[in-house]
Amino acid sequence: MFALLPFGLFAGTVVQPDSAYLIGYSEANGQGGLRFAWSVDNDNWYAIGDNFSFLNSDFGAWGGQKRMFDPYLYQEENGRWHCVWSLNDTIQQFAHAASDNLYEWDRQAYPVVMDAPGNVLSPEVHLSGQAFLVSWRSDGPGAEGVYQLQTDNWSDFSTTEPAAENARRNDRKLIEIAGKERFGNVHRVAWETVDDLIKHYEWMQHHNAERAETMAEDPVRFAGLEALTAEITLQPDQSKAISDKLMGIFFEDISYAADGGLYGELIQNRDFEYDPIDKKYNDPNWNAQMAWSTDGDLDWEIRTDEPIHENNPHYASLNVTGKNAALRNLGWDGIPLQAGASYDLSFFARRPDGRGTLTARLVAPDGSVLAEQRVRSIGKSWTKLTTTFAPERGIDSAQLELRFDKPGRIDLDMISLFPQETFMGRKNGLRKDLAQTIADLNPKFVRFPGGCVAHGDGLANMYRWENTIGPLESRVPQRNLWNYHQTAGLGYFEYFQFCEDIDALPIPVVPAGVPCQNSIMGGHGQQCGVPMEDMDEYVQSVLNLIEYANGPADSEWGKKRAEAGHPEPFNLQYLGVGNEDLITDIFEERFRMIYEAIGARYPEITVIGTTGPFYMGTDYEEGWELARELDIPMVDEHYYVPPGWMVNNQDFYDKYDRNGPKVYLGEYAAHLPGRPMNVETALSEALYLTAVERNGDVVEMTSFAPLLAKEGKTNWNPDLIYFTNTEVKKTVDYYVQQLYGQNAGNEYIPSQVNLSDGNRDVRERVGVSVVRDEATGDVILRMANLLPVAVTASVDPAGLDLRGSATLHVLQGDPTDRDATPTTSEIELGSEVTYEMPAYSFSVIRVAAGK
Ligand code: AHR
Repeated sequence: MFALLPFGLFAGTVVQPDSAYLIGYSEANGQGGLRFAWSVDNDNWYAIGDNFSFLNSDFGAWGGQKRMFDPYLYQEENGRWHCVWSLNDTIQQFAHAASDNLYEWDRQAYPVVMDAPGNVLSPEVHLSGQAFLVSWRSDGPGAEGVYQLQTDNWSDFSTTEPAAENARRNDRKLIEIAGKERFGNVHRVAWETVDDLIKHYEWMQHHNAERAETMAEDPVRFAGLEALTAEITLQPDQSKAISDKLMGIFFEDISYAADGGLYGELIQNRDFEYDPIDKKYNDPNWNAQMAWSTDGDLDWEIRTDEPIHENNPHYASLNVTGKNAALRNLGWDGIPLQAGASYDLSFFARRPDGRGTLTARLVAPDGSVLAEQRVRSIGKSWTKLTTTFAPERGIDSAQLELRFDKPGRIDLDMISLFPQETFMGRKNGLRKDLAQTIADLNPKFVRFPGGCVAHGDGLANMYRWENTIGPLESRVPQRNLWNYHQTAGLGYFEYFQFCEDIDALPIPVVPAGVPCQNSIMGGHGQQCGVPMEDMDEYVQSVLNLIEYANGPADSEWGKKRAEAGHPEPFNLQYLGVGNEDLITDIFEERFRMIYEAIGARYPEITVIGTTGPFYMGTDYEEGWELARELDIPMVDEHYYVPPGWMVNNQDFYDKYDRNGPKVYLGEYAAHLPGRPMNVETALSEALYLTAVERNGDVVEMTSFAPLLAKEGKTNWNPDLIYFTNTEVKKTVDYYVQQLYGQNAGNEYIPSQVNLSDGNRDVRERVGVSVVRDEATGDVILRMANLLPVAVTASVDPAGLDLRGSATLHVLQGDPTDRDATPTTSEIELGSEVTYEMPAYSFSVIRVAAGK
């Protein structure tokens, strides 16, 4: 009788079958991964979970491509499971993953086993002697039939051969679950196997429920909760050293963060290199003439013959037919000008038909001229010409106008307009207000240039650092995978210089020889890693980067740095290799090569490995395993999570091995539904950072992500800082980063917190961390209160002298408030410190030493 009871009814009873039937299957459209159902009679089936996936296919780009068709399960005698599945009906690969328990799966492999137009349908696997025999069907035209190969390690595969139909087991079976037909192969397993899957599903439900907790439910969750007290006892005798570079930034050219953003260039498409492919051919207006317009007696075209530089092949060729002709650039939706400021115009020009002049102007939308300069000496060959504007009137949306009064052909390229007032006055520099807003975070390091921008979405799109140095006209512009154009004007030299200017360590990230795991351009994901025959060259390029940063000014690459104006080294200490990559054999092979070459040539460089885009799962586990095996000094973890995860996982790093690789939490942010930045996200990050700081002996660095986003151009929300052409808008979360960054410590002083309400829900929403800054001797107390009631804290300093004046910063507001800013005041502390944390607040008390 019990055998007919649906899943869940065994819970709490001792009545369990010894064994059951188990089937693995996928949805007909391939979406949703591997599902399981069980049965005790091989007739009545019960799904485990509600459309729950126990294994997802990681092949190809998110969205349409990550599919699993016809999964087939095989269990070895030692209990190990293998799953093979078809990826789609067009490609020549199948997928494999193995597991000991059917819910924690090792890395996936996607061997190419057919020539086009063959395909891989309905694969199956079993052991034949010592080797696994994989067989499948193909219905590709001309390649119809059954095929097979052998492997004993899932890395090396024998040559594919045609096989007989009876080489296959063909033991998939059609069953029905809740009225729906499902197709898969059935296994008889011990009941524990099913029970473990059920428990895993239930655990995930619990986990997801915790993740989903938001402050919107607080009126119910904390109904009747009164103001609380907290006794906080410091334990200075147990203090420990923590990282002195916990707070940094991660800069990626996403949401127009670089071109049109931090990079000071005011001309859009200055190089005429915009290409329809930048937008994957989805925007009919996106081409090499984008952002430019003409007026009067001229027609123009984009030419590529005899360009200024082969890396910059396109230029504008104007055929002026009269005396009233103009070419205009509208900037990044307008050129903002400040009255009294100076702007440097530069461009390359030639007049193949003879010498000439032009008039350059800054004009207002109504056509009035704000500044004007005559530029002479345009000769027959490419020459760089410069002039400076000093408009007397400020305006948000000027245009640059180049006027021609002599008929004939004129070629133009690299038309650039820069404010002289850049951050730190650098040539080719950064937008001052944005750079200053970043500097005000007091970041100890800068990770750049991505993110996904670093490894690109296909081999051709990998960010190659050497393409971004040298004269601007010789740099290699490219498609930005976030759907726009990258000039590389903000290149490696500028990144290094910015780090130096804000006294932050540079942390470049180079691709690990594989593109993004969601690549869609030029191949399915990173399974198309850099070909092995090109890897030596690629590894050398990574070594060259280190020489460029740190090598003597007379070394091959150090010389290029010196030529750019920086003979001194850039003090590169860390190098990220890879960005949340899919951990496959293809990845590992390439990562090892790069890692070992750096270790051999530059052992002083700390390589930062990668552990995928999530805090759990295959890439996280495999990335960590590889890090431990190779003794990688540090790994980069990424997780964008709901506030509920941060509240409920403050012990995440408490469990980490103190002697293993260190952690760089390179990308994180609290994501609420709808992705706002508000007091709730800010406070959950503040709370979580108290726990990270407690683990500052393991977590060496953290950086919120993404950093910058231009309004109206956002690829991703939320971001730490939004901006327009003229405004910088700090988010509530920015202030949390700033309060940590400007009040950093390098010694952690543990504390005991006894709340007057000991319920877990309540306890988890109050976080305290106390640090001392060795340089100043100041003690910094941070208190995050995510409760809807005030908490009055009595702090027992346990021997620490906290008396005297202190600076108090409080960030507080309604959870949905997007505009809260911190207040700062001076307070007096007595021998016993009492402080009331307001409801929904983050407080930082900085106690100056020696008073
Ligand atoms: O921060 C935005 C993106 O998130 C990064 O490019 C990538 O690393 C992550 O997936």
